[in-house]
Amino acid sequence: MRQVVTETMVRVEDVHKSYGTGAAAVHALRGVSFEVPRGELVALKGRSGSGKTTLLNIVGGLDAPDRGRVRVDGSDLADLDENGLLALRRDHIGFVFQSFGLIPILTAAENVGVPLRLRRADPREREERVELLLSLVGLADHAAQRPGELSGGQQQRVALARALANHPSLLIADEPTGQLDAETGHAVMELLRAVVRSEHVTALVATHDTTLLDLADRVLELSDGGIVEH
Ligand SMILES: Nc1ncnc2c1ncn2[C@@H]1O[C@H](COP(=O)(O)OP(=O)(O)OP(=O)(O)O)[C@@H](O)[C@H]1O
Ligand SMILES: [Mg+2]
Repeated sequence: MRQVVTETMVRVEDVHKSYGTGAAAVHALRGVSFEVPRGELVALKGRSGSGKTTLLNIVGGLDAPDRGRVRVDGSDLADLDENGLLALRRDHIGFVFQSFGLIPILTAAENVGVPLRLRRADPREREERVELLLSLVGLADHAAQRPGELSGGQQQRVALARALANHPSLLIADEPTGQLDAETGHAVMELLRAVVRSEHVTALVATHDTTLLDLADRVLELSDGGIVEH
């Protein structure tokens, strides 16, 4: 990946995305443009079906737009082939999903270490990073527990630690508190706000959670396939 230090972490220009064709086509995104400055925590809101997941998948290189351009950390995603996109996702982006996505048979510590194993990080470096991240998310005492032995909020904190394992420049989270009760959700969002600062990452988070909407540096709203800025 080309290493260009830019002050803009994400630049989305006139992105369009439709599903299906003809009369049955759904125009999920109709000309979306916005920027996420480096170091900011940007919340993305919008009613169900407004295109939040579609947009996050496109920014994260999991899906391609029909039209428009997306730049992440200085790279134009259209210039990257499958391997390039894979490397971008593995080395530069951390993902957090609503359903946590942890591996059930691995302990919390092993789950956090997965991205480091994929990168073939030195085992000692891996252990140190895992320990630090579990402390950061308040789970140092739960390292040996499997996801099924952790509460929902704890599982999402493990997922957040895993997303940060490779020092990503961009954290993408899709309704990370969608499966949590309000109080647990608030705690996870406050943690997210804190780690964005302490780990110097940039974050783009789809959410309805009012805690995060209040804590975010900026709130973008998707409506009718376009962005309304607050
Ligand atoms: N794979 C797909 N095939 C067809 N239509 C799709 C597909 N994925 C999404 N859509 C449609 O695109 C629109 C945007 O969906 P998207 O999942 O991006 O919304 P969302 O804002 O994330 O909603 P939610 O808040 O419910 O998660 C919806 O109308 C949806 O039905
Ligand atoms: Mg969604």
